[in-house]
Amino acid sequence: MSERTLVLVKPDGVSRGLVGEVISRIERKGLSLAALELRTVEREVAEQHYAEHAEKGFFGDLLDFITGGPLVALVVEGPRAISAFRQLAGGTDPVDKATPGTIRGDFGLEVQFNLVHGSDSTDSAEREIKIWFPNL
Ligand code: PPS
Repeated sequence: MSERTLVLVKPDGVSRGLVGEVISRIERKGLSLAALELRTVEREVAEQHYAEHAEKGFFGDLLDFITGGPLVALVVEGPRAISAFRQLAGGTDPVDKATPGTIRGDFGLEVQFNLVHGSDSTDSAEREIKIWFPNL
């Protein structure tokens, strides 16, 4: 059964020229793109997207970072797309958690600048896709 997930190539991934690399890995895995947009996100949208982290100490830094430059938002689909993309991304911390061969493990060094976001559950995917692509 096909599933959809919300993926972001964060501003660090865009500024480092890694959009093609990320999309290539998504497509080589066998997943496909259902939507794609380059945009600089408004703070309100970022707050909605990361609402579950509002109480965390890093929330302000995370919002500054994610709104600080253009990012690429994608809807990715395919069998088990949510877990499949999180496998491609690797763990949140690019050094301590992500392994080589993953996007974060291959290209990241710091937890804030971890290049990509992928929904972590079917509920999150549904919620996040509505935020980023309300007309999809
Ligand atoms: S937690 O506390 O375990 O729920 O957080 P985690 O799932 O590890 O991370 C949630 C998102 O916050 C980002 N993050 C940070 N941003 C800035 N500074 C610091 N210190 C920091 N720590 C975590 C992390 O990249 C996650 O973003 P997404 O987009 O969901 O991957």
